[in-house]
Amino acid sequence: MSTLAVERLTTNVGAKVLDVDPTRLATDPDLADQVAEALETHSVLLFPELNADDETLVEFCRKLGKLINFSHLPPETAEVMEISFDPSNPNAEYFASNCFWHIDGLLDEIAPKTSMLTARVTSAEGGETEFASTYAAYDALSDEEKERFADLRVVHTFEAIQRLTYPNPTPEQLTEWASRSVREHPLVWEHDSGRRSLVLGATASHIAGMDIEEGRALLADLQARTTAPEQVCQHSWTNGDTVLWDNTGLVHRVRDFDRNKPRTMHRSTVAGQEKIK
Ligand code: OGA
Ligand code: MN
Repeated sequence: MSTLAVERLTTNVGAKVLDVDPTRLATDPDLADQVAEALETHSVLLFPELNADDETLVEFCRKLGKLINFSHLPPETAEVMEISFDPSNPNAEYFASNCFWHIDGLLDEIAPKTSMLTARVTSAEGGETEFASTYAAYDALSDEEKERFADLRVVHTFEAIQRLTYPNPTPEQLTEWASRSVREHPLVWEHDSGRRSLVLGATASHIAGMDIEEGRALLADLQARTTAPEQVCQHSWTNGDTVLWDNTGLVHRVRDFDRNKPRTMHRSTVAGQEKIK
């Protein structure tokens, strides 16, 4: 199998794919394997102005794994979720927290493996998406830290991420947040591949068994180091761009934009297969 022609975007994360168009996406039998391999290496793949329609994108994603079905949507669009902060979007209240560094699906039993995002309506200013490698973040720890963090476990909650957007929640919000699942994950994920990454981000509430404030300070320090400006790959969107990311090896966020103006992204998500351990 030949490798995908790409150009790195930063040292640790992100690469631009050089020669894929919608026809190749639909017909090249080797492309999915090449993309999966490149995602393991670069964590983020940008297909600039690919201009593929949802159907072609979904068909390609199916070759990467099982797609998550967003079952509240009509069947013909159930594999494409519209991401926008527009109040008419039923998920707008939750998507608002996408502007804080996070890993998708940490409150689910198994976090998704790959996400595909395509820009349909871009914002005039802001609205860039940023990525930072949690593999690189682990690798940059000192030996002493690697040893000290090996057995730490982190409690992730919906409340932790939502509080960042709604610091003064209503009683209804608190009740709804409390109804969501709470998950404890190791701070260091030992992947089946043998690689290790940090598991952190805005859903991280505190460290199990550690003084709450001490744990939060440690998480904040690790997140700051993970997402230091020189570690970040930022993508400024043009309509028709498609980006794939390996959700298991990075944190991501959207930069602020005028929330009164439209910004519409279409997302398809490939289910994960590996529990965090
Ligand atoms: C997401 C997400 C960021 C963006 O879809 O999971 O975080 O730029 N999106 O819209
Ligand atoms: Mn996200």
